[in-house]
Amino acid sequence: MSSVRIQEFLSSPYLHKHPVHDSLLFYYLRRLMDKPKETLPAGRQVVMSGIRPTGFLHLGNYFGAVKNYVRMQEEFECFFMVADLHSLTTHPDTKELKENVHRVLSENIACGLDPDKAALYCQSHVHETAELYLYLNMMAYKGELEKTVTFKEKARLHPDNVNAGLLTYPVLQTADIILHRAFYVPVGKDQEQHLEMARNFANRFNHRYGEVFPEPQAFNYGNELVKVPSLDGAGKMSKSENQFATLYLSDDDELIRKKVMKAKTDAGPASADAVKPDYIENIFLLMKLVSTPETVNQFEADYNKCNIRYGDMKKQLGEDMVKFITPIREKAIAIRHDHKYLREVMEKGAEKARKSAKTTMELVRQAIGLNYY
Ligand code: TRP
Repeated sequence: MSSVRIQEFLSSPYLHKHPVHDSLLFYYLRRLMDKPKETLPAGRQVVMSGIRPTGFLHLGNYFGAVKNYVRMQEEFECFFMVADLHSLTTHPDTKELKENVHRVLSENIACGLDPDKAALYCQSHVHETAELYLYLNMMAYKGELEKTVTFKEKARLHPDNVNAGLLTYPVLQTADIILHRAFYVPVGKDQEQHLEMARNFANRFNHRYGEVFPEPQAFNYGNELVKVPSLDGAGKMSKSENQFATLYLSDDDELIRKKVMKAKTDAGPASADAVKPDYIENIFLLMKLVSTPETVNQFEADYNKCNIRYGDMKKQLGEDMVKFITPIREKAIAIRHDHKYLREVMEKGAEKARKSAKTTMELVRQAIGLNYY
């Protein structure tokens, strides 16, 4: 309904017959009219994602997430954040926090994130996050928070530290996202429930106080989100699984070769054009990520003709993996030692993020009714 129509309606004779309903109606229509015209940030669509500063980046993170970010920074207004506050919910000991934050920033930059294109910042540097988190906590219910799968898991693993921050983890994540009125959130499957909750909280806010936030949605470049299998043939590469089956971007050349050579194989196919067992298919999948198509085709042909030599294949894969990982690792180390550069990155990122946050928070305070003069 346009403002003019609302205005007409408010002055119509239909009203004023039922004072209670009228006042409610008035209230909501006023809210609609008060709605700022331009709630969406102008220009490019906004993308937001967070990276927890725990653990080292591995090949699965690279192909499953970071590669997406690198592409998105060319097309969208991107905010990529190190979730240091989130890490406090499970890691109260902060002895290694600084080192971890430096490392996660360095690794992401080494993978291609560009601090001049995206806003690359630390969550704790943008205080507006905490303020929005507080408002959102008033509309997040205990029941729904307790049902969150990640909460239940963490509470089970650490029964002695079931703190309120852990319970409201998805509320803080929502604040991160909607602080920039982000529309796209590139995350993996494990974050789907959190994103669903972010949509609920954003909608709840909009209904209660007026339209301020777009509904954030998960985003990935379709089939380019490849699943990276682990080296032991069991599931995908992840930091919590078998360390030796996961290739980290910080692994040195010898370790990479050793891990690849340990990948599970067998005596080879018994007949031509046989279906590959999972663990063999996985080696081919990994090869497709880092080797040339000719190399992959050669081994496919060998497999189909039953004369594949897995030792040779793994040697080749090891070399191609080394070629892929080494430049990233070396770049990450160089950045990690350049504290001046890292500081500049964090300052520049925080400045961009604060600017966007400031605009949103002015809308938020006004919508809630915290503007007294
Ligand atoms: N919870 C996310 C994870 O565990 C990290 C995260 C924090 C995040 N804030 C975010 C992801 C905002 C996307 C958007 O990986």
